[in-house]
Amino acid sequence: MRYAIDPRFRAIPGTSSPLELRAMVQNPFAFFEERYLKYGPIFRSSLVYPVVWMMGAEANRAIMVTERDNFSYAGGYGQLAFGRLFKQNVLVMDGDEHLRARTLLEPAVNRLGLTEVIDQVQGIWESTADKLERKPHGDVYDIAQRATFEASAMALTGLKDGSELDEMRPHFEAMIIGAMAHTKLRYPGGVLDQGLKSRDILVDMLRPHIERARRDPEPKGFLGRLAQDKDAQGNYLSIDDVIHHTLLLFWAGYDTTASAGSWVLHLLAHHPEWQDRIRENVWDVLGDQPYELKGSAKLHTVSWFLREVERFGPSLTMFPRTAVNDFEFGGHTVPAGTPVFWSPWMSQRCPEAFPHPHAFDPGRWDPARGDDQAKGKYMVGFGGGPRLCLGRNFAQMQLRIQITTLVRRFHIEPDATRPFLIQGLPTHHPVDSFVHFRPLLGYQERGGRARAAQKGASNESSAEAHA
Ligand code: HEM
Repeated sequence: MRYAIDPRFRAIPGTSSPLELRAMVQNPFAFFEERYLKYGPIFRSSLVYPVVWMMGAEANRAIMVTERDNFSYAGGYGQLAFGRLFKQNVLVMDGDEHLRARTLLEPAVNRLGLTEVIDQVQGIWESTADKLERKPHGDVYDIAQRATFEASAMALTGLKDGSELDEMRPHFEAMIIGAMAHTKLRYPGGVLDQGLKSRDILVDMLRPHIERARRDPEPKGFLGRLAQDKDAQGNYLSIDDVIHHTLLLFWAGYDTTASAGSWVLHLLAHHPEWQDRIRENVWDVLGDQPYELKGSAKLHTVSWFLREVERFGPSLTMFPRTAVNDFEFGGHTVPAGTPVFWSPWMSQRCPEAFPHPHAFDPGRWDPARGDDQAKGKYMVGFGGGPRLCLGRNFAQMQLRIQITTLVRRFHIEPDATRPFLIQGLPTHHPVDSFVHFRPLLGYQERGGRARAAQKGASNESSAEAHA
């Protein structure tokens, strides 16, 4: 920790008070905002160890683009409990090693975000809507988590709900909680210990699927495709590599998308005027048909709404790096070795870019209201530069299907009798936010549900034919 006694580190505004960690954990939003407004785009604080924070448009550009070679992901994520659970994966790699892994994963992940699983995701949200008709009240995070688990696990492993996935689910959950542990020290019975045990169980459960996928003429899911990929020498990836990449993508994509989906439900319920505008737009563009990529650009209210969800409710509020070289930012030198964090939450609430930053206002993304590009520099909910989120299209597709399915079938209303909270860490989402789903008749009357169900059934039978 030599950087911490370096006079250049000490010249960065901020404090070394041991109370900083408590303040950050108790209320990360106030922590970010008070310090950003007081010190500007770079400041230091003390978490478990002294760190530097960089926030705002210029900080984003430096971290993700201009100074990116001065940062290490291995030194950032690798220092956390996450680094113990997910060792050889794209998020803890740097330089050429990262480029090779990303190049390998990108085509398979992109297919998920385009057409490959669109019908299955539609089927999952239709059946979620069927359940909500029978039980028209629920917690937004719980609803989004269930559907997103099914969609993520199906798309990544190629398995369908009701099969082994039920058995895997608690292990996926334990692994995710373990990755967010405050320390990377493993002690018996701790969340990291449970996460590591669950990861090993998942590895054993997935192993036979890879062996089978290697013989499958039409491999299913991301795992099936990766199982058949070969390296430059014509060798298959090792079974462990396939499994660890798949588990990492699950970690990166499940709770993030579920948190965004819970914001979607919460904010639709609390903004009926936007719900009505979106419903009208969706009826105009899709009628009673399921969501499809073609023509989706015309769903402009859905796009503005989702952009504002990303701004207002980023699934994660802070991300780690470690400086590997000295570098200059904002008139200060950050010495090599310094842990550096950036925050989409603060960047996306910078008052200089977003008037009334704490108001949820999808209309701010209407091009008629001003320059999107200037605001875009502050938007890093999916990261940026060459390491932009790999699963962004897949996540966006799921959220668009969630919205277009639910607004046509229900009027979503907040349960005013139940108080809710907003959780900032480890993931950022509403807690105890209950909503009512009041069925709307139009969709069924026009035969939409029957058509979507028929489409889901034809996918199932084609999937069975391949099994
Ligand atoms: C709403 C949902 C999601 C959000 C908000 C989100 C956010 C992010 C962010 C902010 C980063 C950059 C992290 C950094 O620079 O330190 C990132 C990277 C990444 N995301 Fe996502 N993500 C989401 C969904 C997904 C999904 C569905 C997948 C995969 C199926 C995924 C896979 C990845 C991967 C592999 C990376 C690392 C890329 C690299 O370093 O080259 N994400 N994500």
